[in-house]
Amino acid sequence: MKPIIIYASKGDNTEKFANEIVQELDCESIKVTQPGLASSSNLDNYYLIFVGTGIHYGNPNEDLVNYLKTIDLKKLKVYSAHLSVISEGRVSLDLSQNIDNAMIKNFFISYFRRDYPNLRLVERAV
Ligand SMILES: Cc1cc2nc3c(=O)[nH]c(=O)nc-3n(C[C@H](O)[C@H](O)[C@H](O)COP(=O)(O)O)c2cc1C
Repeated sequence: MKPIIIYASKGDNTEKFANEIVQELDCESIKVTQPGLASSSNLDNYYLIFVGTGIHYGNPNEDLVNYLKTIDLKKLKVYSAHLSVISEGRVSLDLSQNIDNAMIKNFFISYFRRDYPNLRLVERAV
């Protein structure tokens, strides 16, 4: 069983991250360009689903949000990781406090520290 990445990307930043994770973990990805693109039942085959979107004017991508509404999230354990690059010296990674799997937590931290060695780690409840 492998992970999968489901993402939407208006300006290609998220796509860049998604492609890097695909290469690193040797897994598949789905780019959501319209709602209902992929059937939720396919997701039963994956043990870990990464969901990626840029934020525009305070909102995640609408097509991705509509797609997520088609998934039974109650069956899933949901974690969040949000990278904010305010300026070169002010980068923070917000991780949800419920990430109880050290491998997943370390993946996010080490992945983003490669590009931003001084990033500030913030752990919050979601
Ligand atoms: C027009 C515009 C509005 C944005 N609004 C927000 C915002 O409200 N909050 C935020 O955290 N980032 C905001 N950003 C930053 C984007 O979320 C960030 O650049 C992200 O990596 C874009 O992902 P994408 O290129 O995959 O679409 C905005 C960027 C643009 C270009």
